[in-house]
Amino acid sequence: MQFARAPRPSRRKDLNSTKSPGTGVGDAVEPVEKHSAGSAATAEQIERAAHLLHSGALVAFPTETVYGLGADARNADAVRRIFAAKGRPAEHPVIVHLADADLLPRWARAIGASAEALAQAFWPGPLTVILPRAATVLDVVTGGQDSVGLRVPGHPVAQALLARLRHLGGDGIAAPSANRFGRISATNARHVADEFGDAVAMVLDGGSSRHGIESTIVDLTADEPMLLRPGAITIEALGRVLGAPPRLRGSQSPRASGTLASHYAPRTAARLMAPHELIHALSTLSKPVRIAVLARSVAKPMGFSGSWIDAPEQSAGYAQELYASLRTLDARGAAEIWIEAPPDGPEWVAVNDRLSRATHRQ
Ligand code: TXA
Ligand code: MG
Repeated sequence: MQFARAPRPSRRKDLNSTKSPGTGVGDAVEPVEKHSAGSAATAEQIERAAHLLHSGALVAFPTETVYGLGADARNADAVRRIFAAKGRPAEHPVIVHLADADLLPRWARAIGASAEALAQAFWPGPLTVILPRAATVLDVVTGGQDSVGLRVPGHPVAQALLARLRHLGGDGIAAPSANRFGRISATNARHVADEFGDAVAMVLDGGSSRHGIESTIVDLTADEPMLLRPGAITIEALGRVLGAPPRLRGSQSPRASGTLASHYAPRTAARLMAPHELIHALSTLSKPVRIAVLARSVAKPMGFSGSWIDAPEQSAGYAQELYASLRTLDARGAAEIWIEAPPDGPEWVAVNDRLSRATHRQ
């Protein structure tokens, strides 16, 4: 019921998502058992979550990109539990979330001018940097690589959780996106609970994630910065801070599960179609075929009987709702999901990246 929407204008009816994420630590955080739309974690719940993390348990928490499945990044057994819960191959590295950029030297060596400039410009926020790792970083966090992914998230619940863990002596939360391996990331607390059930000690609620797609990742381990994953922070914005846009990822880059071609996939076969292709396919659709559509500019034809979602026309709104919309359509038992391809253009790079992965066929 949270995602039922009327046809155009398609603004989300989910109470959770119309709230800005994490309106403040004081005004809401509920464990998901007690979750109700629009709630966000309380200070007591964040405190309890910090103690759970400190004792080696898994806690899912909101960030401004997507929800993370967190473990104390200094506790190898706890980090291994993440891999077990996700069903993720053990050699995939996970991002370490920090309370503040002042913790960087504990996690990375060779923190150069580019890292400092990016941290200054974009943290807290939806940017992950890959840096040469400090000697003390656990292999289970880095996947045995000589580098580590680091991010200071901006969501107030994530910030509060990191601050409380720091108070207990912890200096980072290892967290991949809170979804099972290869599936769509979770952008609200209920989706996390749907993915993991009892495998997670606690799910902190922070409303619907503001950006809705995973962080921009920039690899700073080589001479020139390289973009590993596009996100809300665009190549142009990075270029303004770095002096030149980062190189784009080639085939020789480090392992990153988010860079596998078929990542982020719904279970239902999904096809990306140009607007005219979608219109044509809809016009020739034979009645018994159940199709689910994620449209953007194409209008729902009269008499169309499948599931239909009108996505926002602007890239930021589109990204924010994308995964929830794909989950909704995926749950409808359609034969195929047809997705109207958004435009090309710099602001659509991250969305188009996720859509091409969601529609990739093996
Ligand atoms: O927005 C995000 O980044 C979310 C939130 C929770 O912070 N996290 C996230 O984590 O998307 P995950 O594990 O789903 O994706 C992180 C990506 C993976 O593709 C991983 O392989 C890559 O970052 N990564 C992590 N550490 C790396 C490293 N040292 N070198 C290369 N890639 C790395
Ligand atoms: Mg992921």
